[in-house]
Amino acid sequence: MATEQQTTDASAGKGVSGETDTLTVTDNRTGKTYELPITDGTIRGLDLRQIKVKDDEFGMMSYDPAFTNTASCRSSITYIDGDAGILEHRGYSIETLCENSSFLEVAYLLIWGELPTKPQLERWTYDITHHTYVHEDLKHLFEGFRYDAHPMGMLLSGVGALSTFYPDAKQINDPEERYMAAVRLIAKIPTLAAYSYRHNMGFPYVYPDNDLSYAENFLSMVFKKTEPKHVPKAELTKALDVLFILHADHEQNCSTNAVRGVGSSDVDPYSAVAAGVAALYGPLHGGANEAVLRMLRRIDTVDNIPDFLARVKDREEKLMGFGHRVYKNYDPRARIIQGYLDPIFEATEYNPLVEIARELEKQALEDEYFTSRKLYPNVDFYSGIIYEAMGIPTDMFTVIFAIPRTAGWVAQWMEMKEDPEQKIARPRQIYTGSRERDYVQMADREGPEKIVGPPARRPKRPRRGA
Ligand code: ACO
Repeated sequence: MATEQQTTDASAGKGVSGETDTLTVTDNRTGKTYELPITDGTIRGLDLRQIKVKDDEFGMMSYDPAFTNTASCRSSITYIDGDAGILEHRGYSIETLCENSSFLEVAYLLIWGELPTKPQLERWTYDITHHTYVHEDLKHLFEGFRYDAHPMGMLLSGVGALSTFYPDAKQINDPEERYMAAVRLIAKIPTLAAYSYRHNMGFPYVYPDNDLSYAENFLSMVFKKTEPKHVPKAELTKALDVLFILHADHEQNCSTNAVRGVGSSDVDPYSAVAAGVAALYGPLHGGANEAVLRMLRRIDTVDNIPDFLARVKDREEKLMGFGHRVYKNYDPRARIIQGYLDPIFEATEYNPLVEIARELEKQALEDEYFTSRKLYPNVDFYSGIIYEAMGIPTDMFTVIFAIPRTAGWVAQWMEMKEDPEQKIARPRQIYTGSRERDYVQMADREGPEKIVGPPARRPKRPRRGA
């Protein structure tokens, strides 16, 4: 009921006097006044339902397309202050974690809530390292894709297919099954990611190497040729591990919301994470790193930047890698990545696109169009340049994003499953269509001549690589 205190945190929602904070709403249609409790700066959507003109009405709802101002859960995993440019996981700043921890430590922190002790990390690392192999039949699944299939599409299918190999994961309330699903997902996603690359390139698949670290093993599965053992350069491994930490979790973003939404149906975690991979594929989300590289290549030289920015302002283009739903300040992850650009170029070949990126950022940040909209570089503005310097093709960038984000998806899925307030996700709608129409038999139907279908002269798109 609206008048009850509905918070699980005893102190939250109380004013200085200790009384529960409330919001008083007057419905001008009826003159009635309602008092709604405020908890953690929010009101409960369901508390609006009591506001109605007639008793038999459904009651008031809030309308929030794209959830721009709606909290869908309580979470203690990731904290973002978008105005101040702060990102913390379980209370530790992203800067501290990148400086001191490995990706597997951060994955442990996200999922289990605390930094691991030495024995805990050893056990966690052992379990993940010893579940990196995938069933040979999964390899056959990858062999079935067209030679030029996008690796993200292959990864999406591969993660979904994992659910068929581990049907016991359907026991989502069994702690052992949850643990095994967490380990298997984090362990196997680099293997599937590397398979998608090798298939794309027509190279034989490389099996995981248990002697290597998480990041080293991924690079080995991607780049190993005829040498008996592939140990990547330390600079590359370090940069990749930091990039993994930076991409591990980012609270209720599009893909995490997809994992939570699909997982709320009690489906197995592999299927829920596959939904996250699908959401991440989009160019407005994880696909942005790929789009940034394509944009920088199109800009071609720094001389073309003013023209490009003019087209952005005319809304003919979008400045990919800029802007964020939550950050209205510099994305702290973008700042950390910039620190790795020079060390990476020392260990690899210089990527001239970085000059275009740096100049593009400079000119955008001096331009009122971008500053007034609080548009700053996000995590993906520079990440692709590093991947490219490592020799990773553009199509693989989003796939690499999915590897560490799997830890965040698992953590968020587990938190949701333990939250007694969560139910199957099911938003409401405002119905705008017709009602109770009389059915018209085919012979009596009239209407415009236009046949609904694709435009008649749609240009045929060439196949990639064909
Ligand atoms: N280039 C040009 N203009 C932009 C950009 C951009 N990259 N981003 C936002 N704007 C403009 C919008 O046109 C809008 O202007 P208006 O108010 O005059 O209409 C204003 O800034 C606000 O933008 P919204 O689209 O309302 O912001 P929203 O929060 O919905 O979108 C998003 C956030 C999707 C990230 C957007 O900034 C964008 O498309 N950026 C480019 C894609 C990208 O880099 N995505 C990666 C995000 S990070 C991640 O997912 C890992």
